[in-house]
Amino acid sequence: MSDTQENKGFLAKHGILERSPTLLLVSSLLVVTVGGIVEIAPLFYLENTIEEVEGVRPYSPLELAGRDIYIREGCYVCHSQMIRPMRDEVERYGHYSLAAESMYDHPHQWGSKRTGPDLARVGGKYSDAWHVDHMIDPQSVVPESIMPGYGYLMDVMVNAEYAADVVATHRIVGVPYTEDMIAAAASDVLAQIDPDSDSYDDLLERYPGAQIRNFDGAPGVSEMDALVAYLQMLGTTVDFSTFTPDASR
Ligand code: HEC
Repeated sequence: MSDTQENKGFLAKHGILERSPTLLLVSSLLVVTVGGIVEIAPLFYLENTIEEVEGVRPYSPLELAGRDIYIREGCYVCHSQMIRPMRDEVERYGHYSLAAESMYDHPHQWGSKRTGPDLARVGGKYSDAWHVDHMIDPQSVVPESIMPGYGYLMDVMVNAEYAADVVATHRIVGVPYTEDMIAAAASDVLAQIDPDSDSYDDLLERYPGAQIRNFDGAPGVSEMDALVAYLQMLGTTVDFSTFTPDASR
């Protein structure tokens, strides 16, 4: 048999597919399905797709409460939390965001609108007092600001009673909180604004690098404390002086 005859034989068989629209459709679907599964299925094993980065840890219960306030107040409507690896962004906001930095965010706060600046690395950029002033009356510190004030956060207290439930809920969606962290959640909320508390060391052991101080300067754990605790830790967990991307993944 010559080459051309062999080819003809094969093409003739393919011709069967090409002449039957139904058969062609079903076969194409089959091919796309197999291809799709091969590409998509490995992504379900998230350990493979997110490079683990030293320093990234689950939020402390107080930070988590602050994060809930951030979502409730719709801060994401004006602020993003995702620095793209473009020169203008990196120069303005700092190192581009790593996937690992939002691995414990449920839901993520990447956002899609920047009426105000990106907040992914706002932690440590200003003092607590600046944040409190800015939250109460943004124009008092940034006269041209169009951000609304959130002064009432000073008057509303965080209900630590629910902290354990919030932490436990995050565990259901995959954040590695331990039984110990859930049990201590309510007391950790109070401990994080009190540098003199007995659980200072335990809190730091559970949440390395957690900032422990009275954020709003007023007695009690207000929603302002929680929000500022959250803002002050944003983007601070990874030490970029020692971080090198693992390019082999
Ligand atoms: C209507 C849009 C809008 C909303 C809603 C909004 N902001 Fe802003 N925000 C801005 C603008 C504009 C700026 C820049 C001017 C300024 O600093 O006030 C800003 C600045 C900031 C800054 C300072 C960032 C920097 O790097 O200088 C922080 C922190 C901040 N906002 C937090 C929040 C939080 C927390 C909330 C929710 C409670 C919130 N914002 C809601 C518009 C908004």
